[in-house]
Amino acid sequence: MPDEHLSRRPQFKQDRHRPLYHFLPPAHWMNDPNGLIQWQGEVHLFYQHNPHGPLWGTIHWGHAVSRDLVHWQDLPLALAPSPGGPDKDGCWSGCAIEHEGQCVLFYTGDFPQVQCMATSDDMITWHKYTQNPVIAAPPPVLDVVGTPWDLRDPWVWREGNFWNMMLGSGLKDQGGAVLLYQSTDLIHWTFVQPILTGRLAPDGAVWECPNLFSLNERDVLLISEQPESRHTYYLVGDYVDHQFIPSVQGKTDYGPYFYAALTLLDDRQHRLMWGWLKEGRTLDAQRNSGWSGVMSLPRVLTVRSDGRLGMAPAPELEILRHKSVLVENLTLTPGGGQPLARMNGDCLEILLEGRAVENTRFEILLRCSP
Ligand code: FRU
Repeated sequence: MPDEHLSRRPQFKQDRHRPLYHFLPPAHWMNDPNGLIQWQGEVHLFYQHNPHGPLWGTIHWGHAVSRDLVHWQDLPLALAPSPGGPDKDGCWSGCAIEHEGQCVLFYTGDFPQVQCMATSDDMITWHKYTQNPVIAAPPPVLDVVGTPWDLRDPWVWREGNFWNMMLGSGLKDQGGAVLLYQSTDLIHWTFVQPILTGRLAPDGAVWECPNLFSLNERDVLLISEQPESRHTYYLVGDYVDHQFIPSVQGKTDYGPYFYAALTLLDDRQHRLMWGWLKEGRTLDAQRNSGWSGVMSLPRVLTVRSDGRLGMAPAPELEILRHKSVLVENLTLTPGGGQPLARMNGDCLEILLEGRAVENTRFEILLRCSP
């Protein structure tokens, strides 16, 4: 597999728009985080990647590893489309699990969308299962939408004697769906039932990148919804008898750029979430710069006492702190000038504590200078 892309990072040194501490590939296109797993103490991040250009296409799995969640080392591409194979048009999103000393990746091969498996002993060399796909078509009992169908983004976990896999999908006239399959050997999968169906936004039609986990004695389901493709929603509720009963719904981010979020439970029992930060730049700007898409910073999730999802930047990020500036007891008034004018640069962490006077609001505007 050509890995000349690994040497491309330095060519962007002069690019003032390239983030400095968020992860992004050496060059070219990136979308969803995939296959997050902690392996021998290190965190592996895979990601949807086009190694041939800054726009979506010929999707591979890029790969990076970190000891501290802050500094990432590039590793060779993990998955590439196999000519003539079930993933000939792309290796789409999925997950990673550990099984009998091996790392096992589940991902969606395109076209059509089928579920595939690959394994590794050393996290560098990946072997696609020779009998891929392990799931070749949607359950015939369901009226799955799409041409020919939308069925993708496997999320696999162990429960009792069974491996469980859930897939994102959509059902005619019902909106999005998360479909549950079970297996005892990771190879033969039987459809069980939909875990949940419905719409999160009024026009919701297909659910992508489903992600289910227990947290603070509740269950949490993350879903990214099309056609909006702008929000990863969370549902806090209870997963009982292969059904998810939601009690609280919210967005993982209020902005329209955080999508396809995926989580990892690390060895300190932190449930960490990363998402794809979509571009706000024009297509031309992306093409001209030679890269597109950024990984969010890792966020530690909790279920708060009010039942909503809480999140905070992973504490590991504090090693990025250097010089600090403290400003106290400021009273802000409309048109009152720029009280923070002596701070500048675009690599800052801002901790802000404020008190709004009755019936007012305050805003903080960033990167306003020419
Ligand atoms: C989400 C998504 C996934 C799919 C992947 C393809 O952004 O559409 O559903 O697997 O991207 O790159």
